[in-house]
Amino acid sequence: MKYGFFDDENREYVITTPRTPLPWINYLGCEDFFVLLSNTAGGYAFYRDARLRRLTRYRYNNSPLDSEGFRIYIRDGASVWNPGWQPVQAEPDSYRCRHGLGYSVIEAEKDGIGVRQELIVPKGGNCLLMRVGLTNRCDVQKQLKLFPYIEFCLWDAMEDGSNFQRNLSCGEVEVDGAAIYHKTEYRERRNHYAVFWANRMPDGFDTSRDAFLGVYGGPARPEAVFGSGCTGSIAHGWQPVAAQEFSVCLEPGERSSFIFGLGYIENPTDEKWEAPGVINKSRAKAMMARYSDDAAFDAAMKELGDHWDGLLSGFRLSSGDAKLDRMAGIWNQYQCMVTFNMSRSASYYESGMGRGMGFRDSCQDLLGFVHMIPERARERILDIAATQFEDGSAYHQYQPLTKKGNMDIGSGFNDDPLWLIAGTDAYLRETGDFSILNEMVDFDNDPTKAQPLMEHLRRSFRFTLTHLGPHGLPLIGRADWNDCLNLNCFSETPGESFQTTGPSEGPVAESVFIGGMFVKYGRAYADICRHIARTEGSDAYGREADEALKAVSDMETAVLTAGWDGSWFRRAYDAFGHVVGGSGCEEGKIFIEPQGMCVMAGIGRKTGEAAAALKSVKEHLDTPYGVVLLQPAYTRYHAELGEITSYPPGYKENAGIFCHNNPWITCAEASLGHGGRAFEVYRRITPAYIEDISDIHRTEPYCYSQMIAGKDAAGFGEAKNSWLTGTAAWSFVSISQAILGIRPELDGLTIDPCIPSSLKSYTVTRRFRGADYRITVDNPDGAETGIREAWVEEKKTELSGNAGPCLTGRGLLLAPAAPGSVVEVKVILGV
Ligand code: BGC
Repeated sequence: MKYGFFDDENREYVITTPRTPLPWINYLGCEDFFVLLSNTAGGYAFYRDARLRRLTRYRYNNSPLDSEGFRIYIRDGASVWNPGWQPVQAEPDSYRCRHGLGYSVIEAEKDGIGVRQELIVPKGGNCLLMRVGLTNRCDVQKQLKLFPYIEFCLWDAMEDGSNFQRNLSCGEVEVDGAAIYHKTEYRERRNHYAVFWANRMPDGFDTSRDAFLGVYGGPARPEAVFGSGCTGSIAHGWQPVAAQEFSVCLEPGERSSFIFGLGYIENPTDEKWEAPGVINKSRAKAMMARYSDDAAFDAAMKELGDHWDGLLSGFRLSSGDAKLDRMAGIWNQYQCMVTFNMSRSASYYESGMGRGMGFRDSCQDLLGFVHMIPERARERILDIAATQFEDGSAYHQYQPLTKKGNMDIGSGFNDDPLWLIAGTDAYLRETGDFSILNEMVDFDNDPTKAQPLMEHLRRSFRFTLTHLGPHGLPLIGRADWNDCLNLNCFSETPGESFQTTGPSEGPVAESVFIGGMFVKYGRAYADICRHIARTEGSDAYGREADEALKAVSDMETAVLTAGWDGSWFRRAYDAFGHVVGGSGCEEGKIFIEPQGMCVMAGIGRKTGEAAAALKSVKEHLDTPYGVVLLQPAYTRYHAELGEITSYPPGYKENAGIFCHNNPWITCAEASLGHGGRAFEVYRRITPAYIEDISDIHRTEPYCYSQMIAGKDAAGFGEAKNSWLTGTAAWSFVSISQAILGIRPELDGLTIDPCIPSSLKSYTVTRRFRGADYRITVDNPDGAETGIREAWVEEKKTELSGNAGPCLTGRGLLLAPAAPGSVVEVKVILGV
């Protein structure tokens, strides 16, 4: 069952009922100011850091769900309703929510009154703009009341939700004309405030929640709206809000438009006040003046649209399959931008309080984002690297506001360092900008310890090499990619951290997965060294490359011996030296991660283990909704395995369809030339293809979710944790590079498709290092891979063949063209 449809021309998903199975959200903002917005206008706003600079309050886990947001109440005689349906839940006569790229529009009509609520975070503005248009479609005059309403958060969302003995006394506001200033804590150490404003004078306002809603009223039945209007209350402590009241008289056919804003302002310390106790409003006034009318609002919309035109023009697809085109060309890239901005901090499942930016998560997010704004990727790489320790290990997370490592969780996740190589390698392939490697970057955010980025990569690589276990495989530490496989923890007490309790790190437990990573990204590191050796004529880098490849080859041997189980790659060895993820295990016999990573790394490609491992994945882990993480699911808790066994069977890491590593299987299958199977794995979790089962899937049909319940779960097929997942970046890699086969390399752009035989032709327009490539792939004989003929600018061209860097050895390597040029490429698949 569907709850909407894709409007490809406008790049929107149009939701046709407010009663979606779960709130279906959008992200507004692409720089510093962000809003999470649901299809019923629920959500919240923050500046940069969802925990430390939260502007509006949001209660997760509430009932009904999604009670707080950017609310508009319409009072029409005795009837009160919201265009977004929530929170009053009065039935509109019609309803539509259009989620677009960086904006949303909710349109509803009731009793002849049409309301259009448009929300956008303008580029270059630290604010949310909300335009509300009212239209009288009746043939009589209408006297209406309009009330916008938001509830402020007292900045630190964690404190806001816990330290009530203090914060119920802290709230402070100022009201000045059509603006309500939220200046809580401004009198002491803060030099920032929030402002809610309207572009015309209201007839009334409230800033005390109790006054507007009533102590026991609640947002579904605000006393001011249902009763005798706003009271002009000034909040002193308790819960400051911004509510306004407007009387609107509309003749038949008449339309009236209001613009509201919610802004974040910072003042220099010596310019905090305009009079004792009165905040300096000059910056807020400039913001209000900038966005005061429809023309300004329209211009902001247009600017945003142009921005996205530019971003998406870097990769466009026309394949004849509308679902594929819209995912690869629009929504997957959009989600990559969101994950780049948010990491795993703020979604409807991530509270914005728990985690900042993840080291490994952000490095992986770069893989799907780097082609859009390489300069921002560059900055991010340098920020992440600066949190690395001198021994090459890394803080697992850091706060976006301070860019400092997060001590609570600390270090010890032994895959982290290698992801820095992965992210940097993706940047180098995309841009060819090797100057980044010379940038001086702190260790542990300490400038006295700064070293060139290349040295950071070297230490990342060495970290694994100097942390090997009894089988020559990498030590796992607290966990590797799978945060829940905690082989050194042994927690028996509820409430303890699964990752940081007990020894947490040990000299025995090893990860085959990190072994695979080391081979994949160790080769990438060697390629980078080799490239520098060649371009700079440096023997030292040549030797470093040779040494790295020797270490990679030793690791390959270790993986193919101690890491090989006979039909698939093992997952790990636990702290007692027992196999995890082997046929001899009672449960958890086979895991997805090492199959994907080791095959992507090319381990066992020539000797058959790679193909055997993928066959085992299909046999043991496949389901109609995606590939599950492991089988059989753990049915009881194992202290020696950790959090993974704490989940009920079929959920999360315990045999859920953990979408993030499905694209690894796609890439792995493509590396073996299995185009049909690669596409099958891709399609099963790709939202546009499962839009028809939105009643089962439940999360948004336009973005990937972290997890879909596996076959052992009661809710098989039901997704959770939409938006903030590495699935976005890896899915984009899998479709754009592995399947469609447009792959940036250090030396140019490779064309190496691996597609289902049913795909007969497609065209990709790809911007690469400033040049636009128009690549047409024809597949007349229904091949899955292999280029038969190629033309560049209508000239028949030699294929790079086995000497080339292409995975199938049959691709076409295009040297970078001059920036600004347009290169026409045509390839024909087949033998
Ligand atoms: C984390 C990732 C981790 C994954 C698997 C996600 O919640 O953000 O870093 O790799 O879970 O455990």
